[in-house]
Amino acid sequence: MFLCNAAGCKCTTWGDLDCLLESEANAVMTKSCTLSPRDGNKHPKYHDDGVHSINSNGLENLGYRSYLDWYVQRKDKLKERGKTFILSVAGRSITDNTHILREAAKVGVERVELNLSCPNLDGCPVSLDVCMYRDWLLAILYGLPVSLKIGLKLPVYCNPKDIITVANMVKTLPAVDSVTCSNSLPLGLVYRDGEPVLERILGGCGGGDTMKAVVLGQVYQFTRALGPDSGVDVVMCGGIRGGRDVEDGMKAGATSFQVGTALVVRGSSVFHDIWAHLEGDRFSP
Ligand code: DHB
Repeated sequence: MFLCNAAGCKCTTWGDLDCLLESEANAVMTKSCTLSPRDGNKHPKYHDDGVHSINSNGLENLGYRSYLDWYVQRKDKLKERGKTFILSVAGRSITDNTHILREAAKVGVERVELNLSCPNLDGCPVSLDVCMYRDWLLAILYGLPVSLKIGLKLPVYCNPKDIITVANMVKTLPAVDSVTCSNSLPLGLVYRDGEPVLERILGGCGGGDTMKAVVLGQVYQFTRALGPDSGVDVVMCGGIRGGRDVEDGMKAGATSFQVGTALVVRGSSVFHDIWAHLEGDRFSP
């Protein structure tokens, strides 16, 4: 079971990643990276008022090479602390993704979360168009180094047929051993004092009870669509504030957990609290 940060949350800079290395998360996930560094969208691009968490970051990241450099420099420490490194990859084209995955494997990265569901770029996220998603995945994963295990960061699918189609496709892709449910809900809009809170107006909504209910529904449906012997884990991401949410996720079929908004709000003590809850000693001093 992995318990770690959600891609995008407190994982953009080397300082962020060093904090995660010191935390009680048992994996460290990077910001979704692209071939070249990106500044992302203009500020304000994140808003959280305790009810709504909405972002339009625009894939601000240091570029994949910097995250691989961090990994190479911290490899021994990661091992010492028993932490898995997960490179979140959001290349803007098939060839960008293929290149990043190959370079990652060359330096010994074993696990990647492929994120083709970012809601904050122009146009439809590739993974929402399930035919296009299949074409991209087949092309990206063809000839991939066998050492690399791939998780897929999925969007919220509102059409149950898409869930069946994606689950059946995933079962035919040997490199894919997990699906993460789910990325933030796209195209949200929050006003404060009559003004949109984001410079780009629209953004991805995450965190909170509604997101948790949506994500549990996705976890539940993917668990059933994949079936018991698929060898594909379902990862819950969204609306996790503590151990009770993780317990609910387990009931729905999730075996790993990623914390987003709660990590931004409360810091890495959230990992401690979740472990304590799961170990049943949450009432100890
Ligand atoms: C961004 C947002 C996401 O939800 C995601 O999965 C990747 C990137 C962003 O805006 O940077």
